[in-house]
Amino acid sequence: TILHPTTIVIFGATGDLAKRKLFPAFYNLYIDGRMPKGFNILALGRAENTDENFRNYIKENLKSFSRKNVTTEDWAGFQAHISYFQHQLDEEDSYKKLSQKLENFDKVYGTRGNRLFYLSIAPNFVSVISNHIKNTSIASDPDRDRIIIEKPFGHNKESAIELNNLLSQTFKEEQIYRIDHYLGKETVQNILAFRFGNSIFEPLWNHRHIESVQITVAEEVGVETRASFYEQTGALRDMIQNHLLQILCMVAMEPPVSLESGEIRDRKVDVLKSIRRISPDKVDHYAVRGQYGRGKVNGIKVNGYRQEEGIAPDSNTETFAAIKFYLDNERWENVPFYVRTGKKMKEKHSYITIQFKPLPHSTFSESSSLLSANRLIINIQPQMDIRLLFMSKKPGLSLELKPVEMIFDNFACQTDTPEAYETLLLEALIGDLTLFMRSDQVEEAWDVVKTIQETWEKNKDSSFPNYEAGSWGPEDSNALVERQGHQWV
Ligand code: BG6
Repeated sequence: TILHPTTIVIFGATGDLAKRKLFPAFYNLYIDGRMPKGFNILALGRAENTDENFRNYIKENLKSFSRKNVTTEDWAGFQAHISYFQHQLDEEDSYKKLSQKLENFDKVYGTRGNRLFYLSIAPNFVSVISNHIKNTSIASDPDRDRIIIEKPFGHNKESAIELNNLLSQTFKEEQIYRIDHYLGKETVQNILAFRFGNSIFEPLWNHRHIESVQITVAEEVGVETRASFYEQTGALRDMIQNHLLQILCMVAMEPPVSLESGEIRDRKVDVLKSIRRISPDKVDHYAVRGQYGRGKVNGIKVNGYRQEEGIAPDSNTETFAAIKFYLDNERWENVPFYVRTGKKMKEKHSYITIQFKPLPHSTFSESSSLLSANRLIINIQPQMDIRLLFMSKKPGLSLELKPVEMIFDNFACQTDTPEAYETLLLEALIGDLTLFMRSDQVEEAWDVVKTIQETWEKNKDSSFPNYEAGSWGPEDSNALVERQGHQWV
């Protein structure tokens, strides 16, 4: 792969994401020798600051958030690539100065106009920035300029279309890198390797052999410092529309003809299109929402959502969502895909469960529950492993069975796993769009959740709070799967 010398311009460089994820990712890539030979990071912030001060601030944060040690020598090398620039997002003049600065950089560092703009800012600034970039011709070369945009990408289908239209006035689709950081996770990428790099699983990967699929992304954290954002967002928009649907696409997609980005993204859009839309009168049947009340997480007493700072005492925002999807295509006919996610749950655990169909007939006398013991679990985080459950003979004189597990442990193979942001930033520097969302993918994903979103917005849930912090979510979530004789596992 060729990495061209590049100037990386971070809008919102003094914010939380930059400090926790972006700078550590660039630093780790740098230490691993993965950054381009000539690179500069231009950090944009509203306040006045010096390069030196800003560098020190980054250094302090690297100590907490980087997976690599910050040695004097490494830091000395890295810090020389960072500069600070005082910038006002909504002032044309500020962009003119930025433009001069960038031209100057090109001359001094030989970056030849290769620019990567990272928008690490609140979504309502995307249009302002994009317009100014256009008006001041800062990104005038479609072959050299790229833009990375963080989620949330719009707040519903209409606003996502609007945003896509707006961006397309300044950037071509091939220049736009829409981040869903789950796609950068090692274990999520491994789904492709697992499915299409082996000959023994794919023949079973369909409605003839699979009973159901479950995707769980459970978090222990609550809304942290993001109350005002989360109040207007909720679990459906924050997690399901993006992270969980992207995982679902990886599990359900048809084999791509090649690993070319357009190919893979096409196959994912196919999946999203095939997801059966839920009509407004069926929302209660297919979707469950929850909000946590007081409880205990890890043995520590915690507040309910409505008691958190910045949250309305009668908030209708869901902190949990579970949905049953069906895919109307030949491979997945009648196989339920259950997805669920929640905050302040029992434990932090993201995983996929592929439940295989029970035996048609058992030669053994075991109870019927053992007949459906074949199950594949792909643990995304914090464990990163793949487990295959199957039946085996209990050691001993009699012929009795018991379920056992065969485990492939990713951690055991590699202890120093790159963070999602490292993978994604490197791909953006290389110019590979595979792990990023295309405009139609985002719009289609909004379409999938559209009726649920609208119905939930319209009708308050009078049962809130309906799950205890530190539990696995509301009772209705169990009912959703039990109706079909299934269980969350
Ligand atoms: C973000 C959501 O996209 O993903 C957060 O906005 C959530 O609410 C986070 O906590 C989870 O990411 P991870 O990598 O910690 O599982």
